[in-house]
Amino acid sequence: MKPSVIVVALVSLVASAVAHTTVWGVWVNGVDQGDGRNVYVRSPPNNNPVKDLTSDAMACNVNNRPVPKSVPVQVGDELTFEWYHNTYVCLARHLCLSDLRPPDHSRDDDIIASSHHGPIEVYVAPAASNGSGDVWIKIFEDAYTSSWAVDRLIAAHGQHSVIVPNLPAGDYLFRAEIVALHEADSLYSQNPIRGAQLYISCAQITVTSQGNETLPAGVAFPGAYTDATPGIQFNIYETPATEYVPPGPDVWADAVGGSIIEVGIADV
Ligand SMILES: *[C@@H]1O[C@H](CO)[C@@H](O)[C@H](O)[C@H]1NC(C)=O
Ligand SMILES: *[C@@H]1O[C@H](CO)[C@@H](O)[C@H](O)[C@H]1NC(C)=O
Repeated sequence: MKPSVIVVALVSLVASAVAHTTVWGVWVNGVDQGDGRNVYVRSPPNNNPVKDLTSDAMACNVNNRPVPKSVPVQVGDELTFEWYHNTYVCLARHLCLSDLRPPDHSRDDDIIASSHHGPIEVYVAPAASNGSGDVWIKIFEDAYTSSWAVDRLIAAHGQHSVIVPNLPAGDYLFRAEIVALHEADSLYSQNPIRGAQLYISCAQITVTSQGNETLPAGVAFPGAYTDATPGIQFNIYETPATEYVPPGPDVWADAVGGSIIEVGIADV
């Protein structure tokens, strides 16, 4: 191949990958907890979306295994997820070259492609479940309020927060999810090159104070989202965004809120 052909091929591969995102780490009450990847975040090997709703990766993405640390929080703390965008060159599904640039969550990072409009949700489950079974409780969702949640996430430097609910002390998985809808007019099961793109990240979090709420029954991932679930198939180009309903159950009545607001920029 001529060098110019290789360059064109690489550019098109990069272009197909630049849209993606994954979680860098978390902040607690505005304090950066540091690079969480493979430390307290069950990080996937790259920032690709999950699209197969029947996949085990619906729980905690494609690399769901315990990582060494768990971030301590107390009931009522503000727990902030920070997403970032990194650039990989993948020649094939399991053949990715190293990053084009170092992992980057600086002010310059663009978080996720601006075309990737959609909602953000956060779920929690006891860590002992490993995310399997009817264990996931939705504690936050934000879809569209004059702009899409993802648009506001980009403006907030990739940061969105939940208030830690009144949970019993113990180890939990906090599962943040972005549903990018730019190709969600089609279903993945019918057209695998399109479909809703789910960006999923599980952080290991330890609640150290003793809350007094009993966790309700949750939903299962995979299972909670199907092709027929509202919010999975949606044409953002034709249907008014105000008609969009995020997928999954209602937010737990005893959840205590969250926001899509920047809490800080780490020193890098
Ligand atoms: C946790 O779940 C994943 C699937 O999401 C599975 O591959 C893994 O083996 C499970 N680990 C344990 C310890 O059960
Ligand atoms: C549970 O804890 C909250 C916050 O500490 C408190 O306001 C509430 O009264 C407690 N509820 C019960 C049933 O103990």
